[in-house]
Amino acid sequence: MALPPPSPTTTALVTGASSGIGVELARQLAGRGHGVTLVARREAKLSALAAELGQAHGVRAEVVALDLTDAPARAGLPGTLAERGLTVDVLVNNAGFSTTGPVYRSDRAREITMIRTDVEAVADLCSLFLPGMVERGRGAVLNVASTAAFQPLPGQAGYGAGKAFVLSYSRSVRAELRGTGVTLTVLCPGPVKTEFAESAGFTPEESEGSLPKFMWVPAAEVARVALVGMEQGKGVVIPGFANRVGAQVGRNAPQQALATFLARQHPALK
Ligand SMILES: NC(=O)c1ccc[n+]([C@@H]2O[C@H](COP(=O)([O-])OP(=O)(O)OC[C@H]3O[C@@H](n4cnc5c(N)ncnc54)[C@H](OP(=O)(O)O)[C@@H]3O)[C@@H](O)[C@H]2O)c1
Repeated sequence: MALPPPSPTTTALVTGASSGIGVELARQLAGRGHGVTLVARREAKLSALAAELGQAHGVRAEVVALDLTDAPARAGLPGTLAERGLTVDVLVNNAGFSTTGPVYRSDRAREITMIRTDVEAVADLCSLFLPGMVERGRGAVLNVASTAAFQPLPGQAGYGAGKAFVLSYSRSVRAELRGTGVTLTVLCPGPVKTEFAESAGFTPEESEGSLPKFMWVPAAEVARVALVGMEQGKGVVIPGFANRVGAQVGRNAPQQALATFLARQHPALK
């Protein structure tokens, strides 16, 4: 089994646990008996979830409120958990967001913050926690990419490229981990109703109207499929049949022609 069994001194660290897919991943890990460490910036939301999970599942639910773009704060995470007597056996790099619109009209600071959150923090937390997992010969990592990882995404250029990084990086690190007792799975969801669309600047009409209904998968189902995939030791998990087909098409289509086509469809480029 690729997900290590829960224990009182181990924890599943979930980033982006204040909203959406991260909340569901934390809920379902707790439902399986794992203690959880909830990481994001909005402390009140993390504390409310920690209280819910402690009560519902009798697990230890820790809160660490921090900004993942803050490198020293990230570096302090293993020490903070060690002080609380906890070892990270499961690492879920889920936090992320997207900007929208053409890069030639972008907000420079927000573009860089996105890359720090979606790319830099994922790689840094892997560097921080994988050595201990390999030393113990036990651990599982879930990196959250997107179906956007399989193709260019004009209108969300930096986001798509960041998720392509997460996918490629995860595949390589997974191969490096072979034989160590540690596994890595990359989750590539299609559209999911969370705070994501609003934080990216889409109106509800734009987000719901731009993609067909059959592609949308509820956050709880995305989390369920991800954890089953981890349990089965899968490398790449794409929730939903339509999204698996879409990813295949995105991967195999001529990339520049696809980018030109998608640029005509994207609501943020109209
Ligand atoms: N929803 C979709 O359609 C979709 C599709 C494919 C992939 N994904 C990916 O799934 C993951 C989760 O997204 P979601 O849909 O659940 O979106 P969401 O509801 O907006 O949640 C994003 C989470 O990331 C956290 N976060 C953002 N910036 C952060 C920072 N600087 N430091 C710490 N935490 C930060 C947010 O917490 P705070 O604001 O409290 O910090 C929040 O908990 C993301 O990686 C996203 O790219 C989403």
